[in-house]
Amino acid sequence: MGDPRTSRDLFLDACAGEATERVPLWFMRQAGRVLPEFRALRERHSFEALCRDGRRAAEVTLLPFGRFDVDAAILFSDILVPLFHMDVGLRYADGVGPVLERPLDGPDALDAIEAVTDWGAHPYQAEALARVRKALPEKAVIGFAGAPFTLASYLIEGRSTKRAEGVIAFASQHPEAYARLMDLLVDTLAANLRFQAEAGPDALQLFDTWAGLLPREMYRDLALPFAAQVVSRVHPTGLPIVYYTRNAAETVDLAAETGADVLGVDHTLGLRDARRRVPEGTPLQGNLDPRFLVDGSEGLTQAVRQVLREGEGGPHIFNLGEGMPPAASPERVERAIREVRAFRR
Ligand code: CP3
Repeated sequence: MGDPRTSRDLFLDACAGEATERVPLWFMRQAGRVLPEFRALRERHSFEALCRDGRRAAEVTLLPFGRFDVDAAILFSDILVPLFHMDVGLRYADGVGPVLERPLDGPDALDAIEAVTDWGAHPYQAEALARVRKALPEKAVIGFAGAPFTLASYLIEGRSTKRAEGVIAFASQHPEAYARLMDLLVDTLAANLRFQAEAGPDALQLFDTWAGLLPREMYRDLALPFAAQVVSRVHPTGLPIVYYTRNAAETVDLAAETGADVLGVDHTLGLRDARRRVPEGTPLQGNLDPRFLVDGSEGLTQAVRQVLREGEGGPHIFNLGEGMPPAASPERVERAIREVRAFRR
């Protein structure tokens, strides 16, 4: 007998806190540079151009399904997309990552930017989601955005932060401007996710990648309240919300206070330990160390099984602890998938 529940059912059951016989799985960054098909497309189109074309973004979102037996599609886009519409000079430099030409260098710079709330004027993400929804009726489809703190770190520091020093200094030197910036980002991100929701995804993920750099008390002041505001403004859509941070060992119990339905946990914290620190029955997503997907590393099978066993104490969606590294081997990804799909709880 085949699997009676579709991928979409399994994913939604896990998000709703129900036990699933098989653990649903997908991989952060599954549509990116690990795929030769993606690299070929990138030779002809810039990353920004792919993101801003709903048809092409849908095509890239679907690429992993030609190879990988995953249960969910994540929209091909980026957490920095709102900054395309804020006149801060965002560009993606090869080998460097995202760079802003005009980061916010003080409170006055805030006057030059506005919340982006009319997503109907920038419908490419929703168009991509609608196409993917249609192409994959039995898979889960996930929309996403960055969380306010993580976007603030890019707006202030102008690139991927190392220790969040710039954003922490800005918040302490200019508390009023920081509050104003956070309001603007909450408005932008809530509007963005609500617009994505109309295109029919099954869930929305909020990436607070850099919030895990904050010590607990700072996380509580500078990140948590604003992520929580986005969650509460997006919940009326009825979609489950996944909240992801890196360095979960520091903040996972506080992350639960955002009100998100599912917590994405990176590999600095075992899922069993994570469960002890969050309300009983909270669905967890994660958390294989992505280094096991790179050739030369040892112990992939053991590591996958370990994550699955640690996840057994409650609802679990299998994923990586961080995005798939460009050097991941597709063959190893396939091996990990076979292992997850063979596991019965
Ligand atoms: O998961 C997926 O495949 C869906 C698409 C997706 C991308 N970025 C595509 C991307 C998602 C969900 C993201 C989220 C994202 N973007 C995060 C949060 C997740 C995490 O990693 O913690 C962050 C911090 C960013 C910001 C960002 N975008 C960085 C730091 C970089 C450069 C480094 C890198 O990994 O390439 C990007 C560029 C980016 N985003 C690429 C892709 C496929 C590579 C662009 C290229 O091809 O040049």
